[in-house]
Amino acid sequence: MIKFPEKFEWGAATASYQIEGAYNEDGKGESIWDRFTHQKGNISNNDTGDLACDHYHRFKEDVELMKEIGLDTYRFSIAWPRILPAGKGKINQRGIDFYKSLVDELLQAGIKPAATLYHWDLPQKLQDKGGWENRDTAKYFNEYARIMYKEFGDLIPRWITHNEPMVVSMVGNLWGEHAPGFTDPQKALQVAHNLLLSHGMAVKSFRESGIDGQVGITLNLNHVYPKTNSKEDQLAKDYCDAFNNRWFLDPVFKAKYPEKLMSLYQNEYDNPFEMEKGDLEIISRDIDFLGINYYSRAVVEYDESEKLNFKTVKPDGVEYTEMDWEVYPEGLTDLLLRLNKEYTKAPIFITENGAAYDDQIAEDGQVHDKKRVEYLEEHFKAAKQAIEAGVNLAGYYIWSLMDNFEWAYGYDKRFGIIFIDYENEQTRILKDSAKLLQDVIAKNGLDK
Ligand code: FCB
Repeated sequence: MIKFPEKFEWGAATASYQIEGAYNEDGKGESIWDRFTHQKGNISNNDTGDLACDHYHRFKEDVELMKEIGLDTYRFSIAWPRILPAGKGKINQRGIDFYKSLVDELLQAGIKPAATLYHWDLPQKLQDKGGWENRDTAKYFNEYARIMYKEFGDLIPRWITHNEPMVVSMVGNLWGEHAPGFTDPQKALQVAHNLLLSHGMAVKSFRESGIDGQVGITLNLNHVYPKTNSKEDQLAKDYCDAFNNRWFLDPVFKAKYPEKLMSLYQNEYDNPFEMEKGDLEIISRDIDFLGINYYSRAVVEYDESEKLNFKTVKPDGVEYTEMDWEVYPEGLTDLLLRLNKEYTKAPIFITENGAAYDDQIAEDGQVHDKKRVEYLEEHFKAAKQAIEAGVNLAGYYIWSLMDNFEWAYGYDKRFGIIFIDYENEQTRILKDSAKLLQDVIAKNGLDK
């Protein structure tokens, strides 16, 4: 039996656009994801989040299921355009009411709410003014954060400013696969900086609000390994790590950007992005915890023809999930040890970990997601190893509570521990992985 520390928190995570639906109800404004999904060709099968899991109308049933699983905590995100349809200015009371009802329900069920302020659904009205490339958006984000602290400060004890600024900036503005769909490297760098800036501003506001809770940020991190031990591959590893991980970790914890990568950008563009004096001090304000999303590792080799000198390679003879992401639990241990050594002794939460598989309803009406069960068990063990080695790991949220709209992949990829039968009135079925989690939570440990 593997035991977890006494106060360890078990949870599951979701995000507003991926589950809520009700995209134009009760005064909600348009988000960049509404705009992006409504343009044909951006998403598999032209799926949209218009209805998603209809969680907006079914949240009571969903909280019931969380209770059945026994969750200590639930991580969800707030749709900024529900609160401020135009991104700033007039508050939409019905948006606030929705989250009040949800939080109420959670508290009554004894589940600790953890709210992400930004999980990618920027009000379209702000995108029309340049979105995150516009420094003013950081100011508006801070105003929105203050409204949320004021309304929910005594109800929500854990706050995450941003989810995965790397994905927001790079996948949305460099690779063009996510909203708003640009492919402009300098735009992407500016967006990354402004996101981080807004994080720091919202941390300051949190402190000023005097709320008795925790504030942090969630970064998607993947431990990077060189393909071989050659000097070149080591260099490739260094660049990839700087691009994926340190570009966000270093400003938040060390008030600086990675130098080698910065000079590479500077060689390419005179001024890669606009930054004002004092920004890094704002960005690096103390946080109460670090949230990390871990799915897989990266293996890279040196490639001169690549702008950043590295290329990712896919190892053979290993397992991949439906996302084509390698199953590599050791990477979670390595990552946690590294964070503990190089970045922070503050509590770390795994704010997302999980896997997509092609789940089916079996003849017995159940969903036997054996592969996800194995994936989770192996990652729980990897987390436990890090704890034993001294990492201050405080909790673990599974991605995701339920199958949902998986961004560019639409409903094709299922990450849930609860199955959503989209074809059959959105019936919810607890998968075997949900039962595993139920058992793990009950024992605060794992049988093997
Ligand atoms: C992360 C996102 C989350 C989900 C998982 C699979 O990048 O934060 O919304 O899509 O990946």
